[in-house]
Amino acid sequence: MSTPLNVLGSTGLLHGCDYNPDQWLHAPSVIDEDFRLFPEAGIGVVSLNIFGWAQLEPEEGRYDFGWLDDIFDRVARTDLKIFLSTPSAAAPNWLTYRYPEVLRVDETGRRRLPGTRMNFCPTSALYREKVAALNQALSLRYGKHPSLALWHISNEYHGMCYCDDCEAGFRSWLQRKYGSLDALNAAWWSAFWSRTYTSWEQIRAPRGHGEGTSVHGLCLDWRRFGSDLWADFIAAEIAAIRAGGSTVPSATNLHPGGLQHDAWRLTAPTDIISWDAYPNYHDRDEPWSVAWNPIVYQSFVQDMCRGLRPGRPWLLMETTPSSANWMEVPKLKRPGIHRLTVLQSIAHGADGTLYFQWRAGRGGEEKFHGAVLENGCGGSRSRVFADVRSATDALNNLAPVAGSLARSQVAVGFDWDNWWLQAEILSHGGRGRSHYPWEQLDLYREHWENAVPCDVIDPSSPLSDLSRYRLLVLPQHYLLRTGFVEKVTAWVEAGGILLTGVLSGWADASDLVYSDGMHPGWSRLVGLRREELDHLYPDEKNRFVFAPGNALGLKAEFAAVAKLELNHLVGAEVLAIYGDDFYAGRPALTVNAVGSGFVYYQAARSEQPLRQALLAALWRRHGIEPLLPLGSLPAGVTLQRRLAADGREFWFFLNFSRQTQHVPLHGHSGLDLLTGQPSGNALNLASYGAAVLALSRS
Ligand code: GAL
Repeated sequence: MSTPLNVLGSTGLLHGCDYNPDQWLHAPSVIDEDFRLFPEAGIGVVSLNIFGWAQLEPEEGRYDFGWLDDIFDRVARTDLKIFLSTPSAAAPNWLTYRYPEVLRVDETGRRRLPGTRMNFCPTSALYREKVAALNQALSLRYGKHPSLALWHISNEYHGMCYCDDCEAGFRSWLQRKYGSLDALNAAWWSAFWSRTYTSWEQIRAPRGHGEGTSVHGLCLDWRRFGSDLWADFIAAEIAAIRAGGSTVPSATNLHPGGLQHDAWRLTAPTDIISWDAYPNYHDRDEPWSVAWNPIVYQSFVQDMCRGLRPGRPWLLMETTPSSANWMEVPKLKRPGIHRLTVLQSIAHGADGTLYFQWRAGRGGEEKFHGAVLENGCGGSRSRVFADVRSATDALNNLAPVAGSLARSQVAVGFDWDNWWLQAEILSHGGRGRSHYPWEQLDLYREHWENAVPCDVIDPSSPLSDLSRYRLLVLPQHYLLRTGFVEKVTAWVEAGGILLTGVLSGWADASDLVYSDGMHPGWSRLVGLRREELDHLYPDEKNRFVFAPGNALGLKAEFAAVAKLELNHLVGAEVLAIYGDDFYAGRPALTVNAVGSGFVYYQAARSEQPLRQALLAALWRRHGIEPLLPLGSLPAGVTLQRRLAADGREFWFFLNFSRQTQHVPLHGHSGLDLLTGQPSGNALNLASYGAAVLALSRS
């Protein structure tokens, strides 16, 4: 058997941290200590130079690579690998004071003052020029260094700039997209409130004190433009590296609250997906009692990382080894949870985990942020250091998992057009009550809790090959991108099972709603026509009443809440009707047979009991086998799977609950890679404990 390789082509899983020697150049003994302690902690990768611009280019055009050379030289004498960052995230003062035009303009039109980070204009030609010059110089100097494993492109791009140049760029983007003002006016329905644009110059970014959200097409296009603009900035950063001769792969670490920009667009120029994660695993006493929780959200995002680059493991580029000072209540990670959460990322397809940060600085905004080496008396004898060491041991034991992938029969759909529109732009039923992406999370959670592997994909993306899936769960798919109806119809005809419902198929790619209620092709696919949408107060409920002998065998009644469509059947078969109100008797849950596949349409939002019953019925009817029989996993325990190229299966059992949990294995068994012990026929998982079984072949 050949040794498995990770996503960067080396052996084993990666374990590393952001390392900021640029803050310690005055204290070489500290740097000596860092290099003494890296192996002790089990750190194998350091992300360097993320905010090092001022040290690298202390004055315009004068580079000082001495300190970075020293770090590379030290690394070269070890087994460490380097992720070298392009330092564009934080501009040095000399630059922003001499060229204030590189600074960002906020929504009110005020140019920001020099300072902080992510404070530059992504359109600025001058900023791009300075970044490109430095990136190329870095590439020339270090791009072929044997220790260099990855280019870490900047840091968590986010936000937008509202300067004249960005708005001019927006107008050019619109001209390319629409060709003419007539086409733009039509797509934006601008006759509404007399918003017709008669010259391109009249188009400005939507702002609170201006156009606001009255022209939805404008808001949506501004968001799309923003993601494309950042993608272009990233591509330019990488082009400068390539111009310097380095062929080492690149990644950019996506922002943890990363739903602002479209991750599919942002990551297109990069080679490897990476995301930063700062969940507060202790923000509730026992998260299993709340509707959704940070643990499931974390898994959801991690499964989306898989969806962003199918067929490739990804990297968790940052997480804290203990607390995050910016949190409302920066709780310490309870004993065991750190190792467990590192394993969580691996379970969902990461080939490594890195921390922010190796050593806390003595000053600045993050001096109280968690670190492998914190400002406290513990040093390398601290509890946190021991926690990191325990993660090292676990990752070392999991070396055989490197490079393996997940394979799921189910995907949940999430895309940014729908997210932006429904969460932030639409005026239907009140902003903040959109249930997007909560609906996705709720449905995802059923899979997470029931050992059904599940991907998170943007189903319209060319990267998302629907033929890999048996079931696509697509709630609130309100906006249909051009070509999507054809794509999903072909997949259903070939045998795909689609679960969709309320607020789906209403609008085209410009957010023009279909006068008939739904896209005609979508209407044919779901076998329904939409007439109206009712909204309920949070304490109001209607009912799904299942028809006797329905194809899913569901009998009970279930609550229908929040948003309820009033639809007409045009081919679909009724599984359940509404029980109450003037629309009692109208279809509430239907199925439409299309070719070899089926489309289920749930016309109203439901609560957990129906989600559970419905998904279990769909899995049963359509041959989707949970890894263990339903009911095997106690609350707070999840089972995720990775598959190696040679067919070996790795089953990750993770116990996020505060109790020891017993998990019967129903005839499966394997070697627990974490302990080296055979599993027997059941597992007893300690609170915050885990087991990773290399499954025995039957
Ligand atoms: C991240 C950021 C890091 C650090 C960290 C603190 O979002 O990339 O540089 O600030 O947050 O939690």
